[in-house]
This record gives sequence, structure tokens and C-alpha cells, in this order.
Amino acid sequence: MLTQKGIMSMTKFSGSQTEDKLHVALIMDGNGRWATRQGKARFQGHQAGASRVREIVEAAPDLNIGTLTLFAFSSDNWRRPRYEVDFLMGLFQSYLKNEIEKCIKNGIRLSIIGRRDRLQPQIIDLIEHAEEVTAAGQNLHLRVAVDYSSKEMILQAAKRLSQESNISMENFENLLTNSIYPWESSPDVDLLIRTGGEKRLSDFLLWECAYAELYFTPVMWPDFSSENFCEALGDFQKRERRFGQIPQNAVV
Ligand code: IPE
Ligand code: IPE
Ligand code: MG
Repeated sequence: MLTQKGIMSMTKFSGSQTEDKLHVALIMDGNGRWATRQGKARFQGHQAGASRVREIVEAAPDLNIGTLTLFAFSSDNWRRPRYEVDFLMGLFQSYLKNEIEKCIKNGIRLSIIGRRDRLQPQIIDLIEHAEEVTAAGQNLHLRVAVDYSSKEMILQAAKRLSQESNISMENFENLLTNSIYPWESSPDVDLLIRTGGEKRLSDFLLWECAYAELYFTPVMWPDFSSENFCEALGDFQKRERRFGQIPQNAVV
């Protein structure tokens, strides 16, 4: 098994065409099934899953990851039972309250992507505060997707683009994020990891994953360790990204 140390002794992971540091996106799936398999209630799976986040975030900068986007709550997740939604929102609120000092200390800049108009006012206040006080973080840009739907983001960006005089790909990409920083774009994803065994995107970063390498693992999110994270990056390193070009070893 690849260890973090082993991975780091390999050549540095290289990112997309423009960025040296990687953008890794993570669909943290499998909390409910993890709990059910152990005869526990689903909320206990979410609890266990939440405590995994810190370990993965802490491992990211050493793996040459510049941006880490975590899928925490999809717009379709509102369709879950009320008590589960409330529990997930409570966990998110606790994260915003308890992890901010650590983010500042570790140079992590936190942004929340997704709709805000359906979140509770106290959560919106915490988001705004967290984004403001972590804005100078240089070691990692941690983006957490909450009430996020990629189709919805694309639609909103298209609406905003129609009011612009400069209709370009770059301008569209700048409009794809609803960040408080209007100049910030939503970068292309280099590697998308989904835990929990499903092989689908579930409306996550559809535009940004145009050339992403996809990695699906059966490991349920509450069991996903930094070693599993390293393995995913080791697998990514072996892939040859072509962006439409021919293989490097092709005879022409
Ligand atoms: C992911 O785990 C967490 C959220 C979607 C919020 P799930 O709750 O989807 O877990 P499974 O897929 O039912 O096991
Ligand atoms: C995607 O997982 C959303 C998050 C992990 C936050 P889901 O469990 O909601 O996705 P589906 O319903 O299986 O596609
Ligand atoms: Mg799921």
C-alpha cells in the first residue's frame, strides 16, 4: 500500500495545463450505508463522516493540492427526511464554528460554494465570517459545496453572462462561482474522487470536470483515511492526461 511518505518521494504530482498545484474534488459519499451496515442510525454515519474531514484537509497541502472542493450537501439532498437535513446542517454549523481557528493557523482559505438563499441566517453569518477571516490563507483553498447543484450554477452563470458585453469562455468560468470575490473562477478539476462505491457525479462540478481524472472507491466516507487519499493520488499520477492530444510515446 502506498503511504503518504512513499507518494511524496515520487515525482511531484502535476496539475492541469495552467496550474502547477492540483484541484482535487471529493464526493464524500457512503455515510448512511456505513451506519446501516453496523446497525447504527444514519446520523451516526454523518457524525463519523464529519470527523474524517479534518484528516483529509490536513493531508492535502503535502500532496501538492492547491484547491480541494468537498461535496457536503447537494441541492437534491433537501429531499431527505427533515431530521437528517437538520442534522447535516447542524454538523456544517459546528464545522464553521470549530474549525476556523485551525484554518487560519494552517493557512487554509475557506470558501463555500452553492446557493445561500435557502440556508438559515445564522449559517450565512458564519459562512461570511469564515470566508472573511480565512481570506489570506495561502496553503490550501478549501471549497465546501453546500446546497450545490452544478446545473443550477451553470444556469445562473449563463443568466449573468447574458448581461455582459464580453461573452467568452474565461468570462463564463469567472461567473461559475458565486464566491464573494467576483474575480475568482471555479478552476478545472484535475482529479475527482468519489467514495462509497457509486460511479456517478450526482450534479457536482459538471463543467469543471470536463477533463478530470475520475477515481471511484468502494471505501465508505467514514472509513476513508489519509492513506486511501494518497492511494487515489498515486493512481492519478499514473494516468496520462492528453487533453485531446496523442499519447506521448506515439510513433508519428
Ligand atoms: C453522503 O453520504 C453524505 C451526504 C450526501 C450529505 P450519504 O448520506 O449519501 O450516504 P449513503 O450514500 O446513503 O450511504
Ligand atoms: C452526493 O451524494 C452528494 C454528497 C455526497 C454531498 P448522494 O448520496 O446525494 O448522491 P446520489 O443520490 O446517490 O446520486
Ligand atoms: Mg449517498
